Amino acid sequence: LETEALQKVAEATSLKELQDVRVAYLGKKGPITEVLRGMGKLSKEERPVIGELANTVRGNIADAIDGKKETIEAAELEKQLEEETIDVTLPGRPAPTGGPHLLTSIVEEIEDLFIGMGFEVREGPEVETDYYNFEALNLPKGHPARDMQDSFYITEDILMRTHTSPVQARTMNAMEDKRPVKMICPGKVYRRDTDDATHSHQFTQIEGLYVDKNVRMSDLKGVLDRFAKQMFGEDREIRLRPSFFPFTEPSVEMDISCKMCHGDGCSVCKQTGWIEILGAGMVHPRVLEMAGYDPKVYSGFAFGMGPERIAMLKYGVDDIRHFYTNDKRFLKQYHQA
Ligand code: PHE
Repeated sequence: LETEALQKVAEATSLKELQDVRVAYLGKKGPITEVLRGMGKLSKEERPVIGELANTVRGNIADAIDGKKETIEAAELEKQLEEETIDVTLPGRPAPTGGPHLLTSIVEEIEDLFIGMGFEVREGPEVETDYYNFEALNLPKGHPARDMQDSFYITEDILMRTHTSPVQARTMNAMEDKRPVKMICPGKVYRRDTDDATHSHQFTQIEGLYVDKNVRMSDLKGVLDRFAKQMFGEDREIRLRPSFFPFTEPSVEMDISCKMCHGDGCSVCKQTGWIEILGAGMVHPRVLEMAGYDPKVYSGFAFGMGPERIAMLKYGVDDIRHFYTNDKRFLKQYHQA
């Protein structure tokens, strides 16, 4: 019996099989229990002999089972560890990452460029008063140039700003000691335009203002020339054409020479070879005066540009709506590696 049981223990390959062996040989209905139960029928002399033998056999089988149990458990643990090992040399799965929006990058690039020329970055409200958006910029009520900028009015006196120029007036007004001002202001502006490839009811502008003693037109030209070359390449030229804005006198529009070079050669982007990129001029004496700067002492220049337009030119983006619809396939092209 013992040999047979030990053989079964040795053959068992799982805990389940081992448990079956235990029940079969040591269980309540097993042969050893049966022998011990039948002890009463034995003679006085036989009892201790049989009893001892049965106990020894039972002990041996139980020891064998316990020993085997450890072996099986160890083997199973081993197997489990093997199956669950982590191969740290396998390549990882990259987590998708975002990146700055093209418009954000362009605005920051322009900011950095002007910070490098000593400008501070300022901000102003998008919901603006009629006073700052128009009056303080020499556009009194009824001025025909107000029509140039069809506006979103909120009340009769409050509107969504149509340009970032009100920040010129706000910044100068806020200077209690009427110190020189040298600032740029990026921000959103709003106009009642029908959205298409080149128009949007909401877009971005970057305003620039430099007010000091003896600021001249040549300073404006120098700053804009540096901007254009740093933004588009040292081979670019700028040209200023006379224009009109109520808040600058004289007023100009700036064109940049537009030779576009792609892989196999260069072409001129427009018939004329020039493309308009911003409006600018010498701050109108009335604007200085209204903001508390004496136009006999101070002079200044101002400019306003659209970063979307700059980005479109620099990267060949063909539709302004790409900036706002946020198709990831578009945005991803401009993420730095
Ligand atoms: N505010 C003008 C516009 O929106 C641009 C401009 C700014 C022109 C500053 C001259 C000086 O078109």
